[in-house]
Amino acid sequence: MVDGFDLVVIGGGSGGYACALRAAQLGLSVALIEADKLGGTCLHRGCIPTKALLHSAEVADTVAHAAGFGVLASLEGLDLGGVQRYRDGVVDRLHKGLTGLVTGRGITVFRGWGVLAGPGRVQVSTPEAEPAEATGSGGPFELTAGAIVLATGSVPRLIPGIEIDGEHVITSDQAVELSRVPGRALVIGGGVIGCEFASLWRSFGAEVTIVEALPRLLASEEPASSKVVERNFRKRGITLRTGSSVAAVDTGALDTGAVHTGALDTGADGVVKVSLADGTELSADTVLIAIGRAPRTSGLGLAEIGIEVDNGFVPTDAHGRTRAPGVFAVGDIVPGLQLAHRGFAQGIAVAELVAGLSPKPVLDEQVPRVAYCVPEVASVGLTTAQAEERYGADAIRTLTYDLGGNGKSQILRTQGHAHLVRLVDGPVVGIHLVGERVGELIGEAQLIVGWEAHPEDVAVMIHAHPTQNEALGEAHLALAGKALHAHT
Ligand code: NAI
Repeated sequence: MVDGFDLVVIGGGSGGYACALRAAQLGLSVALIEADKLGGTCLHRGCIPTKALLHSAEVADTVAHAAGFGVLASLEGLDLGGVQRYRDGVVDRLHKGLTGLVTGRGITVFRGWGVLAGPGRVQVSTPEAEPAEATGSGGPFELTAGAIVLATGSVPRLIPGIEIDGEHVITSDQAVELSRVPGRALVIGGGVIGCEFASLWRSFGAEVTIVEALPRLLASEEPASSKVVERNFRKRGITLRTGSSVAAVDTGALDTGAVHTGALDTGADGVVKVSLADGTELSADTVLIAIGRAPRTSGLGLAEIGIEVDNGFVPTDAHGRTRAPGVFAVGDIVPGLQLAHRGFAQGIAVAELVAGLSPKPVLDEQVPRVAYCVPEVASVGLTTAQAEERYGADAIRTLTYDLGGNGKSQILRTQGHAHLVRLVDGPVVGIHLVGERVGELIGEAQLIVGWEAHPEDVAVMIHAHPTQNEALGEAHLALAGKALHAHT
């Protein structure tokens, strides 16, 4: 038995490590239990490596389209090994930094699986090997804690009856590590993961089809944002099959030698047959299942301490408290947006609560969202439909400012818009952006919505020229009734 921690955190991803760091900063003694590597999905299989790959894709696109900007260059191909070294370099540097930070703050890291063993007790399974970052002794053993935080994250959701072989039928876990560019890729699910990988693989030269069950891509976003993405994807040669779902995936034809290769160095060695519910037959060498992520909560001992899961998720109050006294949950296992920065913010808030402070609750409505496909989609707050439902159609005003009126967007040759939703004589409650690089504008949008600014407040702010941020300034000027440039 190793005991005496003020706080034991199970899971060292964005939610868990943020919680541990903040708690240690506030003077609590903290244990962090992690079965794999500190940093979790975000750092090792999600946000960071995929955005590095998407940056390589942007470089490839820039070179391929250089002539349009008067620069003579040609894209000879991809050095996928080089792309991977670049991706791994980014991940490794961040991992090293995080490990140093966690150990430097005096947090005891245990390698293993944490399971709830009773009120204030956590059992740690025997670690298979000690990672570099482990500072605690090996298991199995029990820790006692004043408070316990569950931060075990999520795993790719699978389609019953469709087997992942890790090479031709894959999830994002394998897609991020793939050592080849698919020749012909079929992406099942047109959400964030589906759109990002479709965009990436297309930039790398693959033929790509997206099959999405709902009528549009990125269905939780403003419909006009989906429309711009769909138009651009079609223009880029990505085939869209919205309103379709997959009935079966057959890998029986693999290794027949029927290889399709794209323009670049591609080359899986087989064909996977995919049947859609409407009877259409498609084939691909790579099928990516991207239909959402499931919370990782089984085997945690939740029921034993009185926590009932809801569809696998752990219900909490606005402050992250579960039904079991002294047990909190943060991140992807808590119903709502499954985003690293949400888990991060929840982790900090729970640490502050445990330390006796009074943090504000983390509201999903104020969590910014960015899809890093080309074009990017970034949003915060309510969609038009959500605002209408909550406040009534007469109580809101919307405005769409086309990036065609924005100098920097013209320079970049990107199309898109900023769509604002405000309450009549009230604050801005939703901002929806689409276009290349608009993810970088979400900071200002988030402040506007988070601080409940009125368009008139934003209209007097001076935006640097020429920037894409000016589009936000112009949009708010227009919504405040002072439009200078054209708007729709
Ligand atoms: P998602 O929930 O965003 O999208 C899944 C899509 O699959 C939905 O549109 C759904 O209608 C569709 N679908 C479900 N079953 C289907 C079927 N049988 N056939 C065809 N379509 C089907 O989930 P996704 O993209 O897997 O991402 C998982 C989580 O990871 C999300 O919560 C997302 O926010 C997060 N994430 C965030 C990123 C970012 O912030 N840039 C990047 C990648 C993931």
